[in-house]
Amino acid sequence: MLEAKNLMVFFENALALNDLSLGVRQGEIVAVLGSNSAGKTTLMNTVSGLMIDMQKKEARKGGVRITVMGELRYENEDILHLKPSARVKKGIVLSQERHPIFRDSDVLENLKIAGYLRKGSELKQSIGLIFELFPILRHLKKRKAGLLSGGEQQMLAIGIALVAKPRLLLMDEPLLGLSPLLQADLARAVRNIREQGITILISEQFARPIMPIIDRGYVIENGMLVITGTREELAGNPEVRAAYIGA
Ligand SMILES: Nc1ncnc2c1ncn2[C@@H]1O[C@H](COP(=O)(O)OP(=O)(O)O)[C@@H](O)[C@H]1O
Ligand SMILES: [Mg+2]
Repeated sequence: MLEAKNLMVFFENALALNDLSLGVRQGEIVAVLGSNSAGKTTLMNTVSGLMIDMQKKEARKGGVRITVMGELRYENEDILHLKPSARVKKGIVLSQERHPIFRDSDVLENLKIAGYLRKGSELKQSIGLIFELFPILRHLKKRKAGLLSGGEQQMLAIGIALVAKPRLLLMDEPLLGLSPLLQADLARAVRNIREQGITILISEQFARPIMPIIDRGYVIENGMLVITGTREELAGNPEVRAAYIGA
């Protein structure tokens, strides 16, 4: 479904992604594991196309020069130069680490704003599904987004991505800063999202909470691929266990 080949991303002369190749097949949950600054967000932004917006913005204000090279194919089409909105139309949707939600609007309004381009009946169906995935949000649908806890905001951020009807959902550290209990809840929700026929690429610093749900993973360090394997292979790899699972 998604194939990245020899991706290189430079911020000025600093390499954030270094000759990175990876693939995601339809229906999979694939993890990108890496410590802080490994290049996870850069990868997600490159796949979602957000990097193109950043590139333009930086160029306009005479800021950091961003260079992207390599190959990025989605369903056999070269998408490396497509705008993020064109990628969303194709079903590639990013749920950001900290999504800019409308803090003064309530939960339901946030979902409706995110889905304003969808047909009314389809939007209703999506929102119903989101409330099934995250029952807490149904109870809090009239609560202002700015008053939600960190975990609830993260659920809303994922809900906002789902309203765009992803076929490939990109999740950048969705478990960051959450309690182990909430992490387990969210990991289960991610598995349920896959059951809806949505393919998932998820990044995390620590693998433990997502190990039960992933099919395969890629470990990156300094923007480079260092280890790749199935869940079983990663779980059995002493280096991965020591650095990313903590056992
Ligand atoms: N806008 C930017 N300008 C300059 N350097 C950046 C920018 N964004 C990220 N970087 C650098 O790229 C590398 C990868 O960062 P990032 O993708 O955010 O890693 P991660 O998400 O894994 O923590 C880091 O060295 C970071 O300092
Ligand atoms: Mg990041």
